[in-house]
Amino acid sequence: MCKTIAFLLLFNNMKKRLLSGVKPTGAPHIGNYFGAMRQFVDLQDEYESFVMIADYHALNFIHNKQEMEKNILDVTLDYLGIGIDPEKVIIFKQSDISAHTELAWIFDTITTMPYLMRAHAYKDAEAKNAEINVGTFNYPMLMAADILLYDPEIVPVGSDQKQHVEYARDTAQKFNKIYGDTFILPKELIMKDVATIPGTDGQKMSKSYKNTIPLFGTDEEIKKAVMGIVTDSKTPEEPKNPDECNIFALHKLFLQGEQLQNLRDKYSKGGMSYKESKEMLFEEILALVKPMRERREMYRNNIDTVKEILNKGKEKAKSIADTKMNIIRSNIGVNI
Ligand code: AMP
Ligand code: TRP
Repeated sequence: MCKTIAFLLLFNNMKKRLLSGVKPTGAPHIGNYFGAMRQFVDLQDEYESFVMIADYHALNFIHNKQEMEKNILDVTLDYLGIGIDPEKVIIFKQSDISAHTELAWIFDTITTMPYLMRAHAYKDAEAKNAEINVGTFNYPMLMAADILLYDPEIVPVGSDQKQHVEYARDTAQKFNKIYGDTFILPKELIMKDVATIPGTDGQKMSKSYKNTIPLFGTDEEIKKAVMGIVTDSKTPEEPKNPDECNIFALHKLFLQGEQLQNLRDKYSKGGMSYKESKEMLFEEILALVKPMRERREMYRNNIDTVKEILNKGKEKAKSIADTKMNIIRSNIGVNI
C-alpha cells in the first residue's frame, strides 16, 4: 500500500508540465476550442497542467472594469464547461501572479526593439496604421514570462501563436546564455489537423473577421452561424467537391472514418443540398456542445465555487512562480 502511494507520488512528480492560456476578450468560438482548448482537456491526465486566464494580455484590448470582470469569469466558466477538471489542472488568473509582469520587465532588458518589431502581431497592428500601445509591442515578452516561470515542456496553442512560443524559447535561450541555465526550452504543441480552423467564410475563424461559430452560443446563435456558411451556388442535384466546401471543412472536426467517407461520397455523387449538409453540421455541433453547456451552467449557478477554484489556482501557481522568481533574481544579481 505504502509502496503504491510512494510510486504514485513519484509518478506524479515525474509528469511533464503543460502551460497555456486564453485572453478574456469575448466568447470563445469552435476555432479556439478545436485549435487549443480541447488539448487542455485531452492532456490533463498526462501532464501537470497550468491553464491561465491571460487578463493582462486582454488589457491591451479592454479598458472597461465591468467588461473585464465579466470576461474573466466567462473564460473560467468556459474552461470548466469544456471539461477541465479543477482537481487536476491549476486554473489561474495571470494578474494574480505579479511575477509575470516582473519577469516580463527583466526580459525587456535583454530584448531588442528590432527583434520585437519582427513579431507578426506587431506588424499587423502597424499595417493597420493603428497607434500601437507599448503593451501590444511588449506582448511577446509578457507571454514569454507566462510560460517560462513554470518550466513547461509543451504549450498547446493554435498555429497563430507559434511565433509567440518561439519568442519565449529564444528568450529562454538568450537568458540562459547570459546568466547560466535557468529556464528549460518550451515547445509549442500544434495539432496538425486543427492548426487553423476555418470560419464560415473559409478564412481563419476569428472574432475580428466576424466569421465565427460560438462555442457556447444558444441553439439559435449556432444555427444562424452555421446556416450562414458561404458556399458556391451548386443545385442539390449537382455533384460537389467536398475539399472545396467550407461546410465539409468543419464536418471534418466531428466525423471520422466511415462517417466522413460516407459524407464525402454523398458530396461527389450529387443529390445532397448544402442546406442538408449544414443541418447535419448543426446537429454535430449541438451533440458536442450540449453537455458542455450544462456543465458550464452548473458552475455559473455556483459562482462562489468558481471563485474558490481561482483562489486555489492562485495559491498553487504563486508558490511555484515565487520559487522560480527567487532563482531568477539570484541569477541576475539582485538578491544580495
Ligand atoms: P485567443 O482567443 O486569441 O486568445 O486564442 C485562444 C487560442 O485559440 C490560441 O491558442 C489560438 O491560437 C487558438 N485559435 C484561435 N483561432 C483559431 C483558429 N481559427 N484555428 C485554430 N486555433 C485558433
Ligand atoms: N497570446 C495567447 C493568445 O492570444 C494567449 C496567451 C497569453 C498564452 N499567455 C499565454 C497562450 C501563454 C499560451 C501560453 O491566444
